[in-house]
Amino acid sequence: PSVEFRPSGLAQGAKIDGSRDASERADVSGTTRPESPSGGERPLGRTQRAEGSSARADLLPNAVVDAVVDAGGRAVIPGFVDSHTHLVFGGDRADEFAARMAGRAYEAGGIRSTVAATRAATDDELRARLAVFVTELHVQGTTTFEIKSGYGLSVADEERLVRLAREVTDEVTFLGAHVVPFEFREDPRFAAADGAGTPEAAARAADAYVDLVVGEMLDACAPHARWVDAFCERGAFTPEQSRRVLEAGAAAGLGIRVHGNQLGPGGGVRLAVELGAASVDHCTYLDDADVAALAASDTVATLLPGVEFSTRQPYPDARRLIDAGVTVALASDCNPGSSFTSSLPFCIAVAVRDMGLTPAEALWASTAGGALALRRTDVGAIRPGARADLVELDAPSHVHLAYRPGVPLVRRVWAAGELVA
Ligand code: NIG
Ligand code: FE
Repeated sequence: PSVEFRPSGLAQGAKIDGSRDASERADVSGTTRPESPSGGERPLGRTQRAEGSSARADLLPNAVVDAVVDAGGRAVIPGFVDSHTHLVFGGDRADEFAARMAGRAYEAGGIRSTVAATRAATDDELRARLAVFVTELHVQGTTTFEIKSGYGLSVADEERLVRLAREVTDEVTFLGAHVVPFEFREDPRFAAADGAGTPEAAARAADAYVDLVVGEMLDACAPHARWVDAFCERGAFTPEQSRRVLEAGAAAGLGIRVHGNQLGPGGGVRLAVELGAASVDHCTYLDDADVAALAASDTVATLLPGVEFSTRQPYPDARRLIDAGVTVALASDCNPGSSFTSSLPFCIAVAVRDMGLTPAEALWASTAGGALALRRTDVGAIRPGARADLVELDAPSHVHLAYRPGVPLVRRVWAAGELVA
């Protein structure tokens, strides 16, 4: 369905058509709100053309207008594209967060406590939780979102997570290589030569787990997924182990994304660029060669400020990346350990305040940038032919997203032309 905003104030005649062909166009008269203070909205019949729409009629000469919405001078922006979340999990880690705020450091190993809680949850419990998150995303203006697995870490549990994620989004990522699960770490077979707990024993356990990930687990998960990802970091997987997972995923038809350079410098960014990943995410610790490699590539650098906020790490330097010519996206990384926020307005506020982005760059990074990170051209922008994913702000401009942090400025949200919040 299409939604048209009447040219009034800053919401100047924004109109996009989300339908694939005329036969699919639905009546979206449900988008009208009689109680709206502006009072200027009315549903239109399918063949009627909105008064005042002539400004865009040249762009879509044969378009059918399904609804006319008076935004009353408020800003209208594209729906946010959150290209990085981990929303299928059980439990939470509020205690770990509280301990961190009292001085304890963030460690990748915390992931294992969420793995235990996720394995203990039923499909329906995870589904119910997902439904709550989808509402939470919509209410905050996110209309496209990726979801990763990674809290199952067994064949059956990873399959479950990608299958459940697929029920709510097309953008599903198989992250079997999140950390080495407890049962491999504790397996006496890997400890035999040098005793449990040595780096050699841990490496043997990780290699054996990667064998499972690239074999039976990938076979079970690939049919539900669009992407493969690996956590390339000290305490998780080496660049060599990550490469095995990503190449196997690509051979199974999945696109590549990488978690890299989150907790320290390392080979994640270089590996992502070399493999032609759509995105490398975190990018907190980069050297000049990493930045140059990104700038010369099509790989998007996806920055996740919720992580640095919640782990007290330094924020990534978004200004340095943009000035070097790197394509930057902003995403929430919503997960119970390192970043339990689903709010892109919050990420925008932090990126503007502490990462050197202008409000316009931060808005772009969380919409068009996120779309590029997912290799999508149908979302992330308001233009003819794009999906009608629109957010009306209770503000005269996008600048207010950073200027008024923590204030719920999202007023109404349309996803593919349907009012969802
Ligand atoms: O993106 N970096 C790895 N994975 C998540 C953290 C997951 C967790 O702590 O549970 C992330 O930050
Ligand atoms: Fe993540």
